[in-house]
Amino acid sequence: MTDYIIRDIELAQYGRKELDIAETEMPGLMALRAEYGAAKPLAGARIAGSLHMTVQTAVLIETLTALGAEVRWASCNIYSTQDHAAAAIAASGVPVFAIKGETLEEYWSYTDQIFQFADGDANMILDDGGDATLYILLGARVEAGETDLIATPISEEEEALFAQIRKRLAASPGWFTAQRDAIKGVSEETTTGVHRLYDLHRKGLLPFPAINVNDSVTKSKFDNKYGCKESLVDGIRRATDVMMAGKVAVVCGYGDVGKGSAASLRGAGARVKVTEVDPICALQAAMDGFEVVTLEDVADSADIFITTTGNKDVIRLEHMRAMKDMAIVGNIGHFDNEIQVAALKNHKWTNVKDQVDMIQMPSGNRIILLSQGRLLNLGNATGHPSFVMSASFTNQVLAQIELWTKGDEYQPGVYILPKALDEKVARLHLDKIGVRLTQLSREQADYIGVTPEGPFKSDHYRY
Ligand code: NAI
Repeated sequence: MTDYIIRDIELAQYGRKELDIAETEMPGLMALRAEYGAAKPLAGARIAGSLHMTVQTAVLIETLTALGAEVRWASCNIYSTQDHAAAAIAASGVPVFAIKGETLEEYWSYTDQIFQFADGDANMILDDGGDATLYILLGARVEAGETDLIATPISEEEEALFAQIRKRLAASPGWFTAQRDAIKGVSEETTTGVHRLYDLHRKGLLPFPAINVNDSVTKSKFDNKYGCKESLVDGIRRATDVMMAGKVAVVCGYGDVGKGSAASLRGAGARVKVTEVDPICALQAAMDGFEVVTLEDVADSADIFITTTGNKDVIRLEHMRAMKDMAIVGNIGHFDNEIQVAALKNHKWTNVKDQVDMIQMPSGNRIILLSQGRLLNLGNATGHPSFVMSASFTNQVLAQIELWTKGDEYQPGVYILPKALDEKVARLHLDKIGVRLTQLSREQADYIGVTPEGPFKSDHYRY
């Protein structure tokens, strides 16, 4: 029996060719294979992975297995799978459950599938956005009697999640609790998932240690920023083919993703405006040369609107109703609730093509909505390029090794990798792009209070 659910196994050869190319752009992951391939530090680890099933993720998966792990995988978004990458992974014998355009019901059943190892419970989670962690922890609480937690769903997502929890509870009483207790640790990829982990820990609801991969400098200051700088405009172009130069684009949020997104649009020739709630980020945006406005100021005049906040209800119905005819609206933050898509459900929708919809407002004006408000760089394009994902995923693998081999030394809580490892990740990416480092002399190192080998900065340095 095949232990995978994918679009088409015939796509495996194409996927494999793209994986081969990606490997040449992912020096960090390849270096970890060379360094740890023989020792197999992940032997015995059964990793339940929930992260966009792309070509780059396939290289991550094959690095984890090269280091000895058993892996089962699903995507963390219904639109982000690259079907040929999933096919290549399935063909290699790794169970994968991911189809671009899967339904929400399928999404949660695939999340359930990543925990169903034949030879025991999953003992590690590799998460992006926190859904795999949420599934297990919420299920275990319901199992412990907190049934009201899944009584009243407030969104389609929750409805599908709650239905899947009920299904598993009925099929395997006690499973969630046993599965939760088997987890040694979780490594979390993104800002939104990290927010969820800190929140769980504050409430005393995080039963195992977690490594916050996002806040490695070599993750958030690279993937979130330089990754979005390349993939945001890529997504808008593939979706719409619209002329970007000269258009007025609004970027909501000027954190790491916002900085990359604003730079992406500016690089394409758009005139970019920014909205922010944080005075520090607003000042940064202004001093980077962007006009800082409120959405109310520009809703009726801008051409392109992009949310990057990780917050909810940022672009609301009243904003969309004020927009010009054919304004483009999209989100690059983790969840779709940044845009009030649910409030558009009773409007007239015309599907243009996969992940592109035209929605008519009461005024007669239409908006173009990308990926139904889900992260458009992965829904409408192929996400970030391999090189920057190599830095992110090298942190992921180091986090998995740390938690698997030394998890017992950690109390439940949220940790970040030590700076020496962060610097190591960066170092592994220098040769590929011909970067030559200057060597500190002992005297110079003493003078600035570091060692010649690093770490070169204190923990509070902000880059
Ligand atoms: P961040 O915390 O650095 O930036 C978010 C910014 O939005 C903050 O500066 C905050 O002040 C601002 N903000 C919050 N509410 C706002 C509002 N109502 N109006 C305007 N600004 C507001 O977070 P980061 O790392 O930039 O991540 C943002 C989101 O993007 C998260 O959901 C994260 O998970 C996701 N992400 C997506 C990626 C992708 O490839 N699509 C890659 C990396 C992260």
